[in-house]
Order: sequence, then structure tokens, then C-alpha cells
Amino acid sequence: MDFQEEIKRRRTFAIISHPDAGKTTLTEKLLLFGGAIHVAGAVKSNKIKKTATSDWMEIEKQRGISVATSVMGFEYDDYKINILDTPGHQDFAEDTFRTLTAVDSVIIVIDSAKGVEAQTRKLMNVCRMRNTPVIVFINKMDREGRDAFDLLDEIEAELGIKVRPLSWPINMGINFKGVYNIYEQKLNLYTPSKQTVSKAIAIDINSNELETNIGDADAEKLREDLELINGVYSDFSTEEYLKGETAPVFFGSALNNFGIKELLDCFVKIAPSPQPVEAQERVVNPNEDAFSGFVFKIHANMDPNHRSCIAFVKICSGKFERNVNYKHVRFGKLMKFSAPTCFMAQKKETVEEAFAGDIVGLPDTGNFKIGDSLSSGENLHFKGLPSFSPEMFKYLENEDPMKVKQLDKGIHQLMDEGVAQMFVNQFNGRKIIGTVGQLQFEVIQYRLLHEYGAKCRWEPLPMFKACWIESDDQTELENFKKRKFQYMAKDKDDRDVFLADSNYVLQMAQNDFKNIRFHFTSEF
Ligand code: G4P
Repeated sequence: MDFQEEIKRRRTFAIISHPDAGKTTLTEKLLLFGGAIHVAGAVKSNKIKKTATSDWMEIEKQRGISVATSVMGFEYDDYKINILDTPGHQDFAEDTFRTLTAVDSVIIVIDSAKGVEAQTRKLMNVCRMRNTPVIVFINKMDREGRDAFDLLDEIEAELGIKVRPLSWPINMGINFKGVYNIYEQKLNLYTPSKQTVSKAIAIDINSNELETNIGDADAEKLREDLELINGVYSDFSTEEYLKGETAPVFFGSALNNFGIKELLDCFVKIAPSPQPVEAQERVVNPNEDAFSGFVFKIHANMDPNHRSCIAFVKICSGKFERNVNYKHVRFGKLMKFSAPTCFMAQKKETVEEAFAGDIVGLPDTGNFKIGDSLSSGENLHFKGLPSFSPEMFKYLENEDPMKVKQLDKGIHQLMDEGVAQMFVNQFNGRKIIGTVGQLQFEVIQYRLLHEYGAKCRWEPLPMFKACWIESDDQTELENFKKRKFQYMAKDKDDRDVFLADSNYVLQMAQNDFKNIRFHFTSEF
């Protein structure tokens, strides 16, 4: 297969959901279709069991499993599919945000009983920033859930995206009879089964056949529903989907392997192949000959005796080859990799070559930071890996005066890995660590001690948000910094960050300094 064909047949995406909506189950069923696994239950959930929330070592053990499932590649029809896994625990949301920068589309799983939940909303905001095409899968139709039309309304209102159902459920819960596949005009009758896939039958919706299959009352209701759908929602447009404006919606039950094939068949047809990626210098097209890529995730080995990591590189253009020299753009030096891995299903294998759209794992001993680029020689700095304002802040304090250097080195390396964000307060020079959840503080403390021999403790810092500030009016900016000097900090790139201790203070600041723009992400 030629190089262009290889790229065109790739589909790199992530499944996102609020915990418990069914992401792991759906992933597993997709792998079953690809023949990548043969029995249900083979994919280990990287969901953190609720009981383990106070024991993060347990969580890390579970996360350890997830290295193998970080990227799951498989072949389906003539397509090469890469599913990027995202951590289930919301304290690792920042990891998920970054993973979303490496995909070309997403599937959002929604629990039919719960509708849109907090984490879905947050993740969708990130998708919207990049106009990522979205497909919605409404799961758990085998249970009593909410009315399908209500769910669609809620998705439109809460996720800020137009929807277009491409399949439609016939009842739900114990009366669930199946789905009508609007996209292919086929009826798929429900039989609960975790392993097998029911066959869809082509059907003329206006013929008696419908009555024969689902009974008079349900046939009538389905016809009415379809009429309403066609009246209310405009025809499905692949173009609008690709622009991230409309989300096609499918219904089913991941647990029962129902409605998944419809989803997958439609997905491979409409989902985008690798897309152009914006670098500071220029837009990079996937089908360019020269290789380029960026590090979007670093997974540390938790074994304290072997401090090693895997840097996950998304290939943006060209072909990556083993043992070929590539430029590490930040260092300006050439590096080659003798053991790059790719991820097929749950196996990690050394690869000879990989193409735009693929993810390769590079064993690393501290050469990479999140956001680093590799290229065939060109200086490219890829955009789109923003840091988001953390939600929890603490001062980092050294507990052992003999280990200042170790602490400093450790904390910088952990920040490069993207474990959390560090800010330095300009007033007192103290280091502030910002995270999205309490767990990350525990992770950092543990790793500093075990990997660097440095002891730290945390001092509470009740802050509301970190805002990156900028203005065309330099005088106003300087005035602001003077006025708020106790709350001004620098981020890792030496940029000005204002730490607001409450929403009220932030609003006041926005009111008083109209020429200053306050950003909640580091890229604007
Ligand atoms: P997550 O990765 O999004 O967190 O969700 P996960 O797939 O782990 O699913 C969460 C729970 O929902 C699991 O039950 C799973 O079996 C169940 N589930 C997923 N899809 C369906 C579905 O279509 N119908 C029904 N009825 N349940 C579904 P659990 O009891 O938490 O875990 P387990 O003991 O079954 O593994």
C-alpha cells in the first residue's frame, strides 16, 4: 500500500465519557469487532474503583495496566483504527485534555439514564476549542433511561452542538426491542448478549414487515418518531460533522454488544483521516513526505529503581522509521530510536515504521517534555497543547534542607512530564503547584521521595483560578501587576499568571482593568 493510502485509512480517536457511562465496555466491544481481542472482559478498566480513591498507589497500579491500553490499534475492514484511552479518574483530567490534542475525532458515551454529566461537559469544551468532530453514543438502552428526544435536547443545550440521530431506539429497559438504523435503513432487533452481534435486516419502514418484527404499537410509534426526527433535524451532513458543528447520534447497549456495529461502520466511513496540524511556523499536512510529530503524553515507569518513561508521540506527517535520525527540536540535536513501540490491541510491539495518525511510544530517560517536537530536520513547534487553569493550589515546601537540589530536579522533571503545573510567586519566590485534584499532590509527594530522595510537604493555598494575562496596553498591564503584585506568578515558560483567590476578585479585576484579557488556558 502506498504511503498516501496508509495515511488515508487511519482513524485516530478517543472515547470520552463521564466515569461509569460505559467507555471501557464500548472500547472492548470495538476491539472485539476488530478481532483484536476474542473474549469480552479482556480489556482491563483503567477506571479507578471508588474504594481506592484514598490509595493512589493502588490507582497507579491500575494506571500501570493502562500503559498497554493507552493506545489500542486494530484493523477493521480496510481501516487502521487507533483508539487513545483517557484516564477514567477526573483527577487526571489534564492527561485527558492533552490526549484530545492527539486525536482527529471523538466518540462521546452518554448514559441514557443520566444524560449529560459534569465530566462530559468539560471534555466537550476541550473538543470545541479545536472543532473536533464528535459522534455521540447513548448507552445502556437495556435499562430504563430518559426519553430519547429529551436526551437529544439536553445534548444540544448542554454540549453546545447540533445533533442528528442516525439510529433510533425502539423502547428501552425491559421493553427494549432494538434500534432502527436511519443511516442504513435497517432494523436491528435486540437480543441481549455480551459476545455475539445481532444481524440487522434491511427493511422498508412503510411495509408490514415492521409490524411483523416489532408489533403494531411499536411500529406505529417508530414511524411517528422517524417522521418527527426528519421534521425537526436537518439531513445529516458529513461536512457539518467534520467541522464539529453537528454530532451524529447512535443508541445502543455496549454491555450487550448492541448498536456498536452500526456505530463502528458509520464511524469508519465518516470520521476524518489524519488532519493537518498547526505549528507556530506553518500548517503541517499529514501527507507530507517529511516526518514530524509531537509528544502529548509521558508515562513514567513507577518502579523507583528504573527511572524510565515512555513518551507518546503523535505522528503529524510522513513516516516514522526505527533507527533513523530525527531532530529533537528543543535540543536542536539528532536522536534515533532503536526500540519504538506501537500498540496493537493490548500488545506493545517494536515497530519498524509508523505513519501520520499513528502513535509511537519512545522509551525515554528524561529527554522529553510534553509538547516537544521531533522532525526530519525542520524547526516545528506544534500548537494546541495548552495548559488549563488548575483547580487546586498548594505551596511546595522542602522538608529536608540537605536535599534542595534533588527536590528542584525532581519537581522540574515531574512538571515536564505533565503531572501538574508549577508557578513561581513573584512576590515571595515560593513554588506553587496547581492540579485538578487532590490525588496529584499525593502522586508528586510520593514520587519525589521515591525517585529523587526528596521530601516535601504541602501548604494550603486557597486559590480560585490561575489566569494567563495579556494586553495591548502595556501601561495598564504594568499597573495591574503592581496592584496585584502579591498574586502574580510566572508559569514554566516565564509568562505572567494572575492567581485569583475568588471568583469575586477575578470579576473585580476584569471590571477594573478592561484592557486586560484574562485567559484560563495557556494558549490563546
Ligand atoms: P467507564 O469506563 O465509562 O467508567 O464505564 P464502564 O465501561 O466501566 O461501565 C460502567 C458500568 O456500566 C459497568 O458496570 C458496566 O458493566 C455497565 N455498563 C456498560 N454498558 C452497559 C450497558 O449497555 N447496559 C448496562 N445495563 N450496563 C452497562 P459495573 O457494575 O460498574 O462494573 P462491572 O462489574 O460490570 O465491570
